[in-house]
Amino acid sequence: MTTEKYAISSRIIHWLMALLIIFLLGLGFYMEEFLSKEATNRMEIYNLHKSFGVIALIFIFVRIINRLFKKAPALPSSMPKFEKIFAHLGHASLYLLMIVMPLSGYLMSNSFGYPVNLFGIELPKIAETNFELGKIFGEIHGLAAYLIAAIISLHILAVVKHRFFDKEENDVLKRMI
Ligand code: HEM
Ligand code: HEM
Repeated sequence: MTTEKYAISSRIIHWLMALLIIFLLGLGFYMEEFLSKEATNRMEIYNLHKSFGVIALIFIFVRIINRLFKKAPALPSSMPKFEKIFAHLGHASLYLLMIVMPLSGYLMSNSFGYPVNLFGIELPKIAETNFELGKIFGEIHGLAAYLIAAIISLHILAVVKHRFFDKEENDVLKRMI
């Protein structure tokens, strides 16, 4: 049986963004938990996180536009209804969090009075300096990070379940590779 796949553009964006987001989560948690306030390269590391974060922001817009033109193949009809509902809910939350993450990061930086650079090119300010708002955007950024990390873990577990512990027709990984 031939499986209907995601469009090539959708597959490329999915895997590029998967790598990018997992890298940004790792780097962000490292910045929060392990990077010393006195580290001489602190600024460089923050700028690296922000630059790749802006790339993620650009990618999510490209991804949504691509998704409007390239429909996702329907989930296998052999899949139980509740699994389909969970898959759709999970994917929708991932899309939402992929917007909230970089946007809250950008807004947090500007609200704390810092510019956002894309590998050295200063980008426009999208928010005035306001420490109170900065703290709120920071909270949102941190909370959304835990949420997206949890949903990505479930997402990967679901893929493994469908590949190794399910009917052959439910192996959705084939559609994304
Ligand atoms: C998908 C994109 C992004 C992901 C997954 C991400 C992830 C993270 C994570 C996990 C943390 C640590 C949070 C915590 O433990 O409280 C963090 C911190 C941070 N992020 Fe992001 N980030 C993204 C985009 C951005 C962008 C676009 C900017 C700014 C332009 C940004 C600026 C920051 C800053 C300044 C911190 C440190 C906050 C502090 O020191 O309290 N991030 N990020
Ligand atoms: C190693 C990590 C990952 C694996 C193995 C994986 C695998 C997959 C697979 C197999 C699908 C297709 C499901 C289907 O056939 O309907 C899928 C869809 C999707 N994945 Fe991932 N993924 C990974 C990481 C991520 C990450 C980090 C994100 C973003 C935060 C993400 C977001 C999505 C979204 C939004 C969809 C739905 C696409 C659509 O229908 O428009 N994935 N993933």
